[in-house]
Order: sequence, then structure tokens, then C-alpha cells
Amino acid sequence: MRPNTALNACFVTGTDTEVGKTRISAALLHWLARNGFLSAAFKPVAAGTSLIDGQWVNEDVRALREASALTLSDAEVGPFQFEAACAPHIAASLQRRTIDRNAILRSAHALAARADVLVVEGVGGFCVPLGDDWDSADLACDLKLPVVLVVGLRLGCINHALLTAEAVRARGLSLAGWVGNSVSPGMAWLDKNVTTLRQRFQKQHIPCWGCVPWLAEPTPAAVAAHLDQAALRAFFSSVSPSLVSSLKT
Ligand SMILES: Nc1ncnc2c1ncn2[C@@H]1O[C@H](COP(=O)(O)OP(=O)(O)OP(=O)(O)O)[C@@H](O)[C@H]1O
Ligand SMILES: [Mg+2]
Repeated sequence: MRPNTALNACFVTGTDTEVGKTRISAALLHWLARNGFLSAAFKPVAAGTSLIDGQWVNEDVRALREASALTLSDAEVGPFQFEAACAPHIAASLQRRTIDRNAILRSAHALAARADVLVVEGVGGFCVPLGDDWDSADLACDLKLPVVLVVGLRLGCINHALLTAEAVRARGLSLAGWVGNSVSPGMAWLDKNVTTLRQRFQKQHIPCWGCVPWLAEPTPAAVAAHLDQAALRAFFSSVSPSLVSSLKT
């Protein structure tokens, strides 16, 4: 099944794994909820489970579930969770499973129908394989979603950010915004890196949704406090126009 309707959703990707996609997605869910949106999270593919509150579950799935305004189960947020913390197609094959592309689309549309806005977290970077002939970028294309790029601020991030932006464009998707996220304290020349990213993305008319410093406790509320309110308002009021009036100014 390939439903053709536009989804009230965005797809959060990153310059790499461990760059802050979950922290930023949780902050977006929190910001949406605080502004009156019924937000819901979707982490269709997740590799690596841990025992949390007596349940084997992926940590991202649990964190995103907790940040959602809509009450969801772990299985609804994360329909394809695998035990091994490795590349998802390998994690799936270790369990002799495959990732069902159509099932993900059906789940995404079912969740989006229950929410005002769905925040979808990708897996790893933008082009992570999910099967023999498809990858995470194909998933964003299937869902026809605007992409939010989380740039993990560390050495090499400018190149990774620009390459990812090219890959998003090459797939015919729109890059709705980017977020700079400090993934280690005390990065050398952090400000100069951010300035370069701002300049490059400004030329491509891609707004910055905020720059998040390294936080001792990166809770959804603490991270959301560093996001650009005007940029979020502009984007999410177009995703869920019926709720524009509920957005705080
Ligand atoms: N701004 C920040 N301040 C402090 N710690 C952060 C910040 N952003 C991310 N982290 C920490 O860095 C780690 C990676 O972040 P996160 O899990 O959000 O990355 P990810 O891109 O979602 O990773 P994955 O590819 O595994 O899904 C986590 O331990 C998270 O708490
Ligand atoms: Mg994550």
C-alpha cells in the first residue's frame, strides 16, 4: 500500500548516528504538545533493545513515546525493533526478519490520522539501508515528508551536513530546517562551524531551527528551550493549518 495523501508529519534525519535525532525529536514533540498540538512519535526502525521497566524495548522508542502528547504503546511508536545495536538491516537479518516497507507506511498513516502532527525519527544517517533494495531515504520518500536535519556539531559536521542536504534534494524532498546540536562539550571552533553552517544553509534558503548547546540534562523541555520559536511556528502551522490559532505568539 502506498497511500498518496500528504502526511501531517516531518522526518527527522541526522548527519550520522548519535547526533541527537532523538533528543531533537523529543523536543519537537514537547514543543508541539505545549503549543496545543496532539503530537505523536514514530520510530519505524530501531536497532538495539534494553530492559526498561521490565520490558525489552529500544531506548529511542521509549523516550519518544514519553514525549508524545498522544498516548501510544511501544509497538505503535516502534513497530520494527531489533535486539542487536548495529546497522538495522543486519540487526533484522540476525533475527531472520525483514523490515516490511508497506507495513511501515500503513502504521505511519494510521498514527498520523490520530494526531495533529507526527514526528518521525529516521535511523542513523539519511541513507542507511533497510533492506536489499531500499533505505531510510526511500522511507522518507514513501511518506513524502519534509526533512529536518540534525547536525551533530563535531569535527567533519559541515561536510556531513552539506552532503546530507544534497542527498535530500536528490531524492526530491524538501529540507524544512536544520538544527545544530552539540554532541560533545568543548568542541574547538564551535561558533565558527555554526556560522559556516548558517551561511551555507541560508544560501539554500533552509532555515535554522535552533542551536542546542551541550546540556547536562537534555530533557525535551531543556532542548526545546533552545529551538527557534518563529521557525517552528512557521513550519508547523503549515503542517497542521487548523491549529494555527492555537499557536502561542
Ligand atoms: N545537546 C545535548 N546535550 C547533551 N547530551 C546530548 C545532547 N544531544 C544529544 N545528547 C546525548 O548524545 C547521545 C546521542 O543522542 P541521541 O540518542 O539523541 O542521538 P541519535 O542521533 O538519536 O542516535 P541514534 O542514531 O542512535 O538514533 C545521547 O546520550 C544523548 O542524551
Ligand atoms: Mg535516536
